[in-house]
Amino acid sequence: SSSATPSLAPSAHTLRRSYGSESTPERKVAVLGAAGGIGQPLSLLMKLNPLVSRLSLYDIAGTPELRPMSATSTPVTGYASEEQLGLALEGSDVVIIPAGVPRKPGMTRDDLFNINAGIVKSLCTAIAKFCPHAIVNMISNPVNSTVPIAAEVFKKAGTYDEKKLFGVTTLDVLRAKTFYAGKAGSIPAATNVPVVGGHAGITILPLFSQATPASNLSTEDITALTKRTQDGGTEVVEAKAGKGSATLSMAYAGAIFADACLKGLNGVPDIVECSFVQSSVTELPFFASKVRLGKNGVEEVLGLGPLSDYEKEGLENLKPELRASIEKGIKFAREN
Ligand code: NAD
Ligand code: LMR
Repeated sequence: SSSATPSLAPSAHTLRRSYGSESTPERKVAVLGAAGGIGQPLSLLMKLNPLVSRLSLYDIAGTPELRPMSATSTPVTGYASEEQLGLALEGSDVVIIPAGVPRKPGMTRDDLFNINAGIVKSLCTAIAKFCPHAIVNMISNPVNSTVPIAAEVFKKAGTYDEKKLFGVTTLDVLRAKTFYAGKAGSIPAATNVPVVGGHAGITILPLFSQATPASNLSTEDITALTKRTQDGGTEVVEAKAGKGSATLSMAYAGAIFADACLKGLNGVPDIVECSFVQSSVTELPFFASKVRLGKNGVEEVLGLGPLSDYEKEGLENLKPELRASIEKGIKFAREN
């Protein structure tokens, strides 16, 4: 067979080289849970990202679907057993974690805790061992608890760097933007809405008072947009009727967030995304807000900005639930 057949189409790898000159750093990205509903399309999107020079795909279910991707020039390697997890992680700059079970109708994200907490804990134990300086993008639910679990695991291992741990809440921002643009008549791609708090139900707090472009939506409209953003995940879970939760939109959101992390690492200025991070913006130890990304991960956790009375009320209402979810994660990691 002719393994030396030259590729005719320019690959993402060639593009990366031609954009970046000598100064584009080599970046390895690992996806844990790469064979799943999110993992597959997310891996494909990461493969197309010119900032990625090596892609490592790990899943205990094996990664046969992903094998065809290794036929193109960004080196892609699939790893399918726990013994290979170290190889999958070694040298990673960014580790994206969509491993774990998704919701079925009638479940809350917290109902996934019993299964996903253990998965996240074991994956983070391996990250601490094999790539302790990597940036971690946590997608597995309940994000409000899995991020604190990761932090505890890293603390125990002595590798915790609060600047490198991110709960991915980009999908909440995409939903808020899309729903707002539909109502305000703005162009979605030119619309922005910060979303703060956490990633479950009422802990998801879109700040429509800070939306750009601004508009004069009624209180009823703002209330309806807020609820739709908070229930966006549940809407998909119900529509899929037992076949899981958002996958393609999450892959897109995850690719946007990982790209922002890579740009930050590479020194691109003014990269700001909302994310659930260690925070002193409120009295809670973890909180989602706008974050400026840089060469070390979090460069600056930005404040909430001016809130409407409705948002101030939402903020107070979400704190008990968010605190409980954070504490549940910490307790699990300490006791297990
Ligand atoms: P899925 O079941 O389709 O895929 C999950 C994959 O994880 C499977 O391939 C499974 O084999 C793998 N996996 C399980 N345990 C593993 C382990 N120990 N190591 C490596 N891989 C392992 O589920 P999905 O639809 O891709 O969703 C994955 C997770 O993402 C769920 O917890 C879901 O709730 C969450 N999610 C989060 C967001 C968000 O906004 N943060 C959005 C959508 C879904
Ligand atoms: C989402 O927001 O779509 C995810 O968190 C998945 C879910 O369970 O809703």
